[in-house]
Amino acid sequence: MFQNLAYAKRFQQHLESTTFPENPAHLYDPIRYILALAGKRIRPLLVLMGAELFDKDTVEAALPASTAIEFFHNFSLIHDDIMDRAPLRRGEPTVHHKWDDTIAILSGDALLVKSYAELAKCEAAKVAELLHVFNKLAIEVCEGQQLDMDFEKLERVQEEEYIQMIRLKTSVLLGGALQMGAIIGHADAEAQALIYDFGVNLGIAFQLQDDILDVYGDPETFGKQVGGDILSNKKTILYIKLKELISETDRPLLEDLLNSTTIADAEKIENMKALYAKYTIKALADKRKEEFTAVAYEKLHAIKIADERKEPLFALADALMHREK
Ligand code: IPE
Ligand code: IPE
Ligand code: MG
Ligand code: MG
Ligand code: MG
Repeated sequence: MFQNLAYAKRFQQHLESTTFPENPAHLYDPIRYILALAGKRIRPLLVLMGAELFDKDTVEAALPASTAIEFFHNFSLIHDDIMDRAPLRRGEPTVHHKWDDTIAILSGDALLVKSYAELAKCEAAKVAELLHVFNKLAIEVCEGQQLDMDFEKLERVQEEEYIQMIRLKTSVLLGGALQMGAIIGHADAEAQALIYDFGVNLGIAFQLQDDILDVYGDPETFGKQVGGDILSNKKTILYIKLKELISETDRPLLEDLLNSTTIADAEKIENMKALYAKYTIKALADKRKEEFTAVAYEKLHAIKIADERKEPLFALADALMHREK
């Protein structure tokens, strides 16, 4: 899916040069495990592509920042899977399922520290500026994750509140990754702001697609538990749209589904999917996704650099919106 194989390879090499101690095994094995499961590695690619867009000779210099971003992302996934009670990640058991919660908490913490250790390897003259962007996005991810948990317990969440929540939990990391690349590529403040906005809008579309795949993904390839969001009453774009449109007649059905403690998992997922189908919810979610993608494209167009230099970023954005995992 990801065109830039040269960057993927270079990133992998760099990652392999970043080793973790053998002991305590229960601290470092889970880190080795989740990093080896790899995933799509979009965020480090965004750092490298952000640097390349502004100065193609800065890609090597961007490797530590790209690693910091991927470490942070993996840390957030280890903790997210505890919070979401998720059994599967990247087609394998989640860290807290394979080991236990305390191991997942601490190995996640250690990985967060290691992301700062990578940041410290960036060119000294850029570290303060990079740290500023990184700290801002990192605290915003925590804010978004807390809102996501709070929303599980709320019955009504407005679409605008939901968009703000996913902007924080997911999008600022994509925007920040691109901005950090741009900083390393010596971009000016205006260009940094535009590429950040490109990433944030792309990130919102990315999380909308994630919500859609959580219900409609192919269990063979998706790598996570299909229907997990339904089981935890997650306030996703699909839920928000359904809640907005559901008739008075169907409303009690939805209430029952949400509140029942006896309904079997498979049945809850099936009944929820039937309601989504009845109100054509998937199409509505896809439409929102396209809208945010269009805004992202506008922001990328607005950067004062020849559009053909932006082709790889447009292509990546397009691939992300049509991904199956
Ligand atoms: C998962 O991110 C978390 C979200 C923000 C939806 P990815 O879909 O990028 O996960 P990996 O890294 O490819 O596994
Ligand atoms: C991801 O949200 C946000 C972070 C991990 C910070 P999700 O909870 O939807 O991500 P997945 O679906 O578990 O990958
Ligand atoms: Mg999750
Ligand atoms: Mg989550
Ligand atoms: Mg998800």
